[in-house]
Amino acid sequence: MSRSDITPLSPRKLVVANWKMHGSLVRNQALLDGYLQGLQSLPQTDVVVCVPYPYLAQVQSALAGTAVAWGAQNIAKYEEGAYTGEVSAEMLRDFGAHHVIIGHSERSTAYCESDENIAEKFMMAKRHGLIPILCVGETLLEREAGVMERVVGKQLETIIRLFGGEAFAHTIVSYEPIWAIGTGLAASAEQAVAMHQFIRDTVAAADKTAADSLKILYGGSVNPQNAVQLLNQKEIDGALVGRCSLDVEQFIKICQAVPENSVI
Ligand code: 13P
Repeated sequence: MSRSDITPLSPRKLVVANWKMHGSLVRNQALLDGYLQGLQSLPQTDVVVCVPYPYLAQVQSALAGTAVAWGAQNIAKYEEGAYTGEVSAEMLRDFGAHHVIIGHSERSTAYCESDENIAEKFMMAKRHGLIPILCVGETLLEREAGVMERVVGKQLETIIRLFGGEAFAHTIVSYEPIWAIGTGLAASAEQAVAMHQFIRDTVAAADKTAADSLKILYGGSVNPQNAVQLLNQKEIDGALVGRCSLDVEQFIKICQAVPENSVI
């Protein structure tokens, strides 16, 4: 396996580490060494690490020649220009990044990112050969009100309306219910499977071929215990992991939860 195989078309399940705003040069190196050692015997799992921007050079050098791919947690919607503090898709490519998380709720809520803004970033990533990991999901209030499909549907439909269903070809969507992120309360396998089916059906209604080439991950309090059930569902193509990705043992256990014979 090599990093160039880690595309949405890979038959293997995918586990993505989202380090969020955690890390230091020393701690990252220990984490990466631990990942690489633990993953040696895990041919059934693709792994991507999404790091804070300053550490892109570090992961590029530490992961060169390994099977682990890396990426970032956001990009600008612009090509380049006078946008102080922003980082472009092209800059990520300069550091060998393959993936980028788009529309994470911790950003869209804190920085008021609209669905349109997120759609533009999604396309910007694609235009530059980055694989976008689009985060979608509802709040607790929206789930309790029973409108979660309407909310997630709107997030997907914005991209479909602006760029067509084919925009989803060879991309990744991560279902991250906001109420499950960082709370210790993951969605049940039934809740996740139902939403994953809805996501694939929504994309398929716009473009069947694109839907067939889409990977759909689950994110939100994934841990070694719940990963076993979640990653055993055929509708769940992998996981986006926050807190547990900062602990080698827990992260490797999550990667080990991918069933050995699973082929997407
Ligand atoms: P936790 O795994 O810490 O709940 O975070 C999930 C997440 O936001 C991944 O992007």
